[in-house]
Amino acid sequence: MNVFITGNSSGLGLGLTEALMERDAIVWGMSRSGCPLKSKHDDVLRDRRQDIANLNTLEEGLDRLLSDCLRLDLVVLNAGILGRIQEISNTDVHDLEHIMRINVWANKIILDWLIERQVPVEQVIAISSGAAVNMNYGWGGYSLSKAALNNLIRLYAPEMPGSHLCAFAPGLVDTGMQDYLCGEVDSEEFPSVQKLKDARGTEDMPSPREAGDQILDLLATLRDDYESGDFVDIRSM
Ligand SMILES: NC(=O)c1ccc[n+]([C@@H]2O[C@H](COP(=O)([O-])OP(=O)(O)OC[C@H]3O[C@@H](n4cnc5c(N)ncnc54)[C@H](OP(=O)(O)O)[C@@H]3O)[C@@H](O)[C@H]2O)c1
Repeated sequence: MNVFITGNSSGLGLGLTEALMERDAIVWGMSRSGCPLKSKHDDVLRDRRQDIANLNTLEEGLDRLLSDCLRLDLVVLNAGILGRIQEISNTDVHDLEHIMRINVWANKIILDWLIERQVPVEQVIAISSGAAVNMNYGWGGYSLSKAALNNLIRLYAPEMPGSHLCAFAPGLVDTGMQDYLCGEVDSEEFPSVQKLKDARGTEDMPSPREAGDQILDLLATLRDDYESGDFVDIRSM
């Protein structure tokens, strides 16, 4: 299985990469700090350190990383940032722009690159979030970006007829994002984070590795039971 995944230096992307290594996949990964599994799996794990927020250099980075890749069974558009939990009216538009660059526009460039280079791709999963539809108080930049990501995937689906695309909310996963949400955000000011604090340390917030295995086990269902372009929340499957 050939897989390209963004943001596999930590969190869900790293958990997915571990799960993929165990299933004998070949993985091409891209992140700023690099995948820590690289030295252990040098033969099957290609890694490129790349800031995907820099849209001007992303195509060149893809050319370099994926130069020997003839086809991909799976593309996971996973890299993403949360931004600060705060009122949208207090959020600087440049901070919103930065979130959109990473969570949305970098993914557009990646999909354009795959189309342009005619790399056959069987399945694309863009990691979205329940925040794409909830619009909870304080989640402004993140919610906007994930809602845009869902629609980006819907728009690309008919333009990539040979691939199955979906935007996928993985549920709660115990990653660095949760360190900030559970550790630094005041749940009295932003009540929606209380649910996350309650879930941490329970089966409602699995480890990245567990979540990675869950996603890989659902790949065929996503392809077979959903239309290309759909938004799927794991909690509704
Ligand atoms: N954790 C959850 O409960 C949860 C729930 C729903 C959705 N998600 C989504 O899951 C995805 C992964 O998040 P996570 O929770 O695993 O958080 P995380 O541990 O912070 O991981 C984020 C990943 O994205 C990469 N990344 C961030 N900015 C980047 C940039 N400018 N260029 C290249 N790579 C960049 C990071 O790598 P570097 O820092 O090395 O660049 C890291 O590998 C995100 O799309 C997130 O929105 C998470």
